[in-house]
Amino acid sequence: MHPDTVSRVRQTWALILPQRKSVCRAFYRRLFLDHPELRPLFKGEIDEQADLFVTMINTVISALEYPERVRPLIETLGARHAEYGVRPEDYLKFEQVLLETLYEALGDELDAEAQAAWREVFEALSQTMQAGAVR
Ligand code: HEM
Repeated sequence: MHPDTVSRVRQTWALILPQRKSVCRAFYRRLFLDHPELRPLFKGEIDEQADLFVTMINTVISALEYPERVRPLIETLGARHAEYGVRPEDYLKFEQVLLETLYEALGDELDAEAQAAWREVFEALSQTMQAGAVR
C-alpha cells in the first residue's frame, strides 16, 4: 500500500476518533435506513457493536504497513461474519454507507484522495474477510 494512502487514512481517522460514538450511531442509522434487510442480522446492542467495530478498525489502521500480521485475525472475523449471515454483496453496502458517513462527519477534510484511500483500505479488508469466510 502506498505510504500516501496510509497517511490519508490515518489523518482522517484521527479526526473521527474524538467523535466516534456519534459517527458510529450515524453509520448504523444510515445502514439500516438504506438497507433494512440487514437490521435482523444484528442481535446485540448496537453501541457495543460500534465499540468492537472501532477497535477492529484501529487494529487494521495501525497495521497497514504489515497486513500479514493481522491477516489471520481478519480471516477469522470474516468467517464469523458468514455465520452471522453476512453475504459478499453486503460488504459493498457497508462500504458505501461508511464513505457517506465519513463525508458527513468530515466534510471537505475528506477530499477525493482521502475517499480513494479509504476505499482501498476497506476493499482490502473486505476481501480478506471474504477469503476467511470461504475456507
Ligand atoms: C468490513 C469491515 C467490518 C469490520 C471490521 C467488522 C467488525 C465487526 C466486529 C469486530 C464485530 C464483533 C463480533 C466479532 O468480532 O465477531 C462484528 C459483528 C457483526 N458485524 Fe461486522 N464488520 C465488518 C463488516 C460487516 C458487514 C459488511 C456486515 C453486514 C451487514 C456486518 C455485520 C455484522 C453483524 C451482523 C455482527 C454481529 C452483531 C450482533 O450479533 O449483534 N459487518 N463486526
